[in-house]
Amino acid sequence: VHTPRVFSGIQPSGGLTLGNYLGAMKRFVDMQDSGVETIYCMVDLHAITVWQDPANLRRATRELCAGYIASGLDPEKSILFNQSQVPEHTQMAWIFNCVARMGWMQRMTQFKDKAGKNAQNASLGLLAYPALMAADILVYHATQVPVGEDQKQHLELTRDIAIKFNNDFGVDFFPVTEPVIEGTATKVMSLRDGSKKMSKSDPSDMSRINMTDDADTIAKKIRKAKTDPEPLPSEVKGLEERPEARNLVNIYAALSEKSVDQVMRDVGGRTFSEFKPMLAELAVEKMSPISDEMSRLMQDTAEIDRILANGSERARAIASPILQKTYDIAGM
Ligand code: ADP
Ligand code: NA
Repeated sequence: VHTPRVFSGIQPSGGLTLGNYLGAMKRFVDMQDSGVETIYCMVDLHAITVWQDPANLRRATRELCAGYIASGLDPEKSILFNQSQVPEHTQMAWIFNCVARMGWMQRMTQFKDKAGKNAQNASLGLLAYPALMAADILVYHATQVPVGEDQKQHLELTRDIAIKFNNDFGVDFFPVTEPVIEGTATKVMSLRDGSKKMSKSDPSDMSRINMTDDADTIAKKIRKAKTDPEPLPSEVKGLEERPEARNLVNIYAALSEKSVDQVMRDVGGRTFSEFKPMLAELAVEKMSPISDEMSRLMQDTAEIDRILANGSERARAIASPILQKTYDIAGM
């Protein structure tokens, strides 16, 4: 039986979105405050599976740390660190590269999406990425991983790797980690297209709310969000074929910490010209303090670097003995 321990990470690839906040960060804070040990990483080694400008990467790593803290993570309560500062991640990843099968990696839909048509020209790291992700999690024997829906397949692979390692060596060493994909914002969609997830890599800035957007920008993006002409129904059922409406309702529910049913009772019957200003006001109320706090924290990058250095020491103290034991099991 493994002690409950939470791990998750976000890529410092620039431009954190409302999707990252609601689907990941806000949930990280809930888990921190639930009393279990929580470990949250800036996964810079994942970011470089596609090209990153070095100066941007350095800035984005600090900005992500600022985003974590501004969202409510407390470096005393949670371990906050940068992946590349803890070499046990890549050491464990090599073991898992040798446990995972080529076919498993080639099936990953995110690889296919990110590699595009010319997969031969993708980095080898982009293919191996999910084995590194398994290492991120299992090098801490993490039992729970809060993530958005898009990470479900990678979490299944992490479980497959843990199970295969345990079977191959006849041990019960790695926990079979549970994904924690819960709440009303497990997949926040684009504001311009209800069939695409909100993402920092979308070419249209109007498609997403960035965690650094100011109040006017947030309000404008919500005002211009794509919708349909019907008023809101009073029951969730009525949103089934209306992905854009459903998305705005989900965002409202997640920001206000209400269930979707409750939101439908509150706003059912309203038109979008009534509902959008309500949503904009709520989004500004919840997101502006975070963006203000992020810019304040970014004025003292030395302090951020100190927090990350301290976090990586604490992370290594957990990861190092687990890696040593893994080597031992494998005969090294
Ligand atoms: P991105 O997908 O924005 O490039 P990451 O891959 O680093 O960012 O994802 C960080 C976390 O944010 C993951 O747990 C992911 O599932 C979550 N996430 C990203 N986009 C969304 C979204 N649109 N809705 C909900 N969660 C999301
Ligand atoms: Na993602």
